[in-house]
Amino acid sequence: LFYLIGFIVFIFIIALLTGLILLTSWFLTPKGPFSLVINKNDPLDIDPGDTILTSLYEHKIFIPSACGGQGTCGFCKVKIVEGDGDLLPTEQEFLSSKEKKDGVRLACQHKVRNSLKLEIPEDLLNAEEYEARVISTKTLTEDIKEISFDILKKTMEFKCGQYIQIKVPSSENLQGFEFRAYSVASSEAENQNITLNIKLIPDGLGSTYLHNLKTEDKVSFTGPYGEWKINETPEESLILVAGGVGMAPVRSILHSVCKNYPDKIVHLFFGARSKNDLFYVEEFRQLVWEKPNINLHYALSEPEKNDKWDGETGFIHLTIDKIIKSDNHRQDAFLCGPPLMIEAVMKILAKKKINTENIFYDKF
Ligand SMILES: Cc1cc2nc3c(=O)[nH]c(=O)nc-3n(C[C@H](O)[C@H](O)[C@H](O)COP(=O)(O)OP(=O)(O)OC[C@H]3O[C@@H](n4cnc5c(N)ncnc54)[C@H](O)[C@@H]3O)c2cc1C
Ligand code: FES
Repeated sequence: LFYLIGFIVFIFIIALLTGLILLTSWFLTPKGPFSLVINKNDPLDIDPGDTILTSLYEHKIFIPSACGGQGTCGFCKVKIVEGDGDLLPTEQEFLSSKEKKDGVRLACQHKVRNSLKLEIPEDLLNAEEYEARVISTKTLTEDIKEISFDILKKTMEFKCGQYIQIKVPSSENLQGFEFRAYSVASSEAENQNITLNIKLIPDGLGSTYLHNLKTEDKVSFTGPYGEWKINETPEESLILVAGGVGMAPVRSILHSVCKNYPDKIVHLFFGARSKNDLFYVEEFRQLVWEKPNINLHYALSEPEKNDKWDGETGFIHLTIDKIIKSDNHRQDAFLCGPPLMIEAVMKILAKKKINTENIFYDKF
């Protein structure tokens, strides 16, 4: 009997403690809905527990979030003017001292605990959601595919160098999807169709999904994103550097230059391993036909014997070093490719006295 009473008292104490914990956590958990005011717009209802990024998405506000909310791209910056926004260790590396001081935070890292006032640049509020249908797929290299889409029901105005975010189904995400960023590879003159170049990453969620798409399949995406703009002054030249799939935005820029700024002096550099990794060579040759101010330079880092390659060899930054001269005129540069390539090219451009403010890069 003594043991039985002891057991019952024990169970009672455990039940009491559990009840107390649940009650306390109920009192401590923020109750919603809260209000979210963006710039000077009307307040929106948001739910506690969601991240700011998810809350924005639910109200069809599609700010950049290239890593799909994993906290690794640093693109989802918003300024928290009012509300809980203590700096978290996960966002330290993505924010400058000024941004930290001004209350700029990563929307994917902060959960909603109270009402919020945010400042978001107006142009980021212009991104929309689109549906698109695959109209063609083409193999460009062993691991890069070109996929073209027809945008359904509406058109998308974008500028060359911009990117979109594809909604990729994901069983590991509570929302059931994640976003991945892809640069538009087609001309900005086409607002009904877009083309992407996708490199297959082994076990990669987004790239595998896109590589498996077939003609007529439908996808959703948001965009356009990215703030790079062509400098329109013809005598100020443009250096374009692409490594591997980094060719995507560079192709879009080249089409735009040929159509809209035919007098601009352009040097396009493309670095690849062997001849099999080069693509769009014939298309570019025809595109720049009779445009002597547009110069194409290719370099292979590991040409194969049967490539019969008599062009430049070695990494692309070495070719840039040979071709580009220090100039009194402003020179702009757009680089896109793997991080090591970007770092090596940045050093060469610094040697050529190109102002870092005039250099834009996308690393991927
Ligand atoms: C602004 C922007 C534009 C981009 N444009 C393009 C584009 O035009 N074409 C394109 O193919 N990609 C582009 N990317 C990269 C793209 O967004 C994805 O990161 C890429 O497709 C990998 O996503 P995933 O879902 O397939 O792989 P994940 O599921 O995210 O990753 C799977 C694994 O692969 C690793 N991994 C991720 N990326 C790489 C990589 N590049 N090399 C080796 N390992 C990797 C991850 O660390 C992880 O371990 C762009 C990225 C940004 C930020
Ligand atoms: S979405 Fe990439 S860091 Fe927030």
